[in-house]
Amino acid sequence: MTQPANGSHKGVIFSGMRPTGLLHLGNYMGALQNWVTLQDDYSCIYCAVDIHALTTVERPEETASIKPNIEDMVLDWLAAGVDPEKSIVFVQSHVPEVMTLHTLLSMITPLGWLTRVPTFKDKVRQMHETEETVNYGLVGYPILQTADIILYKADTVPVGQDQVPHIELSREIVRRFNNMFGETFPEPKAKLTEAPLLLGLDGQNKMSKTLDNHLDLAATPEETTKRVLTAFTDPERVRRELPGRPDVCNIYSLHKIFSGAEASSAVYSECTTAQRGCVDCKRHLADSINDYLKDLRERREEFKARPGYVQEILHEGGKKAKAIAVETLAEVYDKMGLG
Ligand code: TRP
Ligand code: SF4
Repeated sequence: MTQPANGSHKGVIFSGMRPTGLLHLGNYMGALQNWVTLQDDYSCIYCAVDIHALTTVERPEETASIKPNIEDMVLDWLAAGVDPEKSIVFVQSHVPEVMTLHTLLSMITPLGWLTRVPTFKDKVRQMHETEETVNYGLVGYPILQTADIILYKADTVPVGQDQVPHIELSREIVRRFNNMFGETFPEPKAKLTEAPLLLGLDGQNKMSKTLDNHLDLAATPEETTKRVLTAFTDPERVRRELPGRPDVCNIYSLHKIFSGAEASSAVYSECTTAQRGCVDCKRHLADSINDYLKDLRERREEFKARPGYVQEILHEGGKKAKAIAVETLAEVYDKMGLG
């Protein structure tokens, strides 16, 4: 077995997020909360993947938001409990060795493996491109992701279902590398989060910033309440006197997550007997969510107020990541006959 590059006997986790700015409640329940828990059982490396962000830039102005978005996102990570004493927290481009490894891996990755990935086809369509006009960087997206993971010899990658094809591809690339050049990298395994899927305020789609149906973690309680009050409820409950159907209402699903079992069963019976109106029900939910996020928000404010705090953490994380990366890359150079 290949030893983890960090010298410990714990498994090594790597995960990354593209820096899109403030995270929302769906990101928290789906991924971030899991990142925090995993810190107890693994050596964790968490990365703001700013080079990946460049794969979908359409206008040069968009690059101006990368740095502020990293800061906003990493503040959310830290506020949620990602602990820089336990885990390596860093920015992808601060360790340029990943781009070297990306190039080297591209020498052993058939083009067909890349163009077959469903997320590639989706992105090409979304960007109104064709496979002829699309940037080479987007084609190589999963190679860069593989380089992220294996540069640190990570064996476990917590991701959502949508990323599973990428991790499968990483495994294929690793198998090919190990076959050609000798056992070097562990085959990374995807670790799916068993979090409840959070629907957004539209009650229909997964919570997402693009659909503007989300609740930001960093919002004020007032902003949160205001947005929750715009949420869709049971569409057939057009008057207050009509009984509602909590089973088709996302507000009820959210109560079950954020208000506790007892309060949720009261919501259920008061709704179905028309004793509770939707506006009050939504205010109640907003209060529960605000309570749930109270500590996180306080920590966030605290970290945000310390000048240079996030940059310092990212600087230190970058140094630790770099030390591992340099070692792995030297091994790869040697095995591939370079250097
Ligand atoms: N592609 C991932 C996403 O869009 C982000 C990512 C980049 C990533 N590199 C990674 C995730 C390495 C896990 C491991 O969500
Ligand atoms: Fe939904 Fe609550 Fe209205 Fe019932 S009372 S329909 S659970 S918002």
